[in-house]
Amino acid sequence: MEKKITLTGITTTGTPHLGNYVGAIRPAVISSQCASQKSFFFLADYHALIKNKDKNLIYTSTTEVAASWLALGLNTDNAIFYRQSDIPEITELMWILNCVTAKGLMNRSHAYKSAVQANVDGNEDNDFGVTMGLFSYPVLMAADILLFKANIVPVGRDQIQHVEMARDIAQRFNHIYGQVFQLPEVKIDQNVDTLVGLDGRKMSKSYNNIIPIFASEKQLKKSINKIKTNLLEPGQPKDPDDSVIFQFWKAFAQQQQIDEMRDKFQNGISWGEAKKELFNLINNELAEPRDKYNQLMADPEKIESLLVEGAQKARQISLPNIKEIRGAVGINPLRGTKSST
Ligand code: TRP
Repeated sequence: MEKKITLTGITTTGTPHLGNYVGAIRPAVISSQCASQKSFFFLADYHALIKNKDKNLIYTSTTEVAASWLALGLNTDNAIFYRQSDIPEITELMWILNCVTAKGLMNRSHAYKSAVQANVDGNEDNDFGVTMGLFSYPVLMAADILLFKANIVPVGRDQIQHVEMARDIAQRFNHIYGQVFQLPEVKIDQNVDTLVGLDGRKMSKSYNNIIPIFASEKQLKKSINKIKTNLLEPGQPKDPDDSVIFQFWKAFAQQQQIDEMRDKFQNGISWGEAKKELFNLINNELAEPRDKYNQLMADPEKIESLLVEGAQKARQISLPNIKEIRGAVGINPLRGTKSST
């Protein structure tokens, strides 16, 4: 049987945080180390342009995100790791898909709808600040996925709709032009849902509650000390399931450590002690990658050369695939009947 293809992208805006690590990077790194899997991971830098017009930020984020994935152990021999903008076939396919994607489908996109709703609420024109990039964001994402004929797309919950749209678009294309695309399936990691932030809401830059993956040891300690707790005193039993600290703990600990910490909560561990243990747990996991990260950040050419290598591997697949797709829609080199023999 053919190997299933797993593919996922990470938008290059902002400094990667522990939520990205737990939700996306860690599972991806694990699957990259497994020789039986065929995986594609890429930096979605064209997606980043939609939200961000600060060219310095686009540039630094690309460096930071790439360095993070590499430092955290992404195996680039097994998995193909590349930058979206290095694969021109993606944007080429985006156009072809644009021509089969119903505008009505895009009207239903959550990201677009919430931008319109914000305008309505703010008494602005419906389309204020809405670019075509935002509107057709799911088409670019469909091109990312379909070009490589990915079967499995691991994403956070907020991206489920986009993967479903990629399926819809693939079906529409196949219906018109014949069976070309695989229908991708979304994969949500059930164990670690989106990691909470310092305040207990989803960890997100927009809530200003993030912990960067590669914060220095000192910053990491400081951030953990900021995690919201209640007023229960040392010695008073605490409810682990109502604690942000425990939610973090679960995302980093082994089952046995989780059980032990549950007991400690019941036995009234102080918040200070719980935070100290949490710091040690997270820091142990990140100390070594942190050194690697700092080395890579000091040597961007190294990152660049790994990305170029990744793009070469990716294009060995994307070039024949785009040829097939172009052929399917009738864009072919012109030939007389004579030359076909
Ligand atoms: N839109 C995704 C996000 O913000 C990133 C992304 C871009 C992606 N292209 C993709 C994810 C293709 C999976 C597959 O998280």
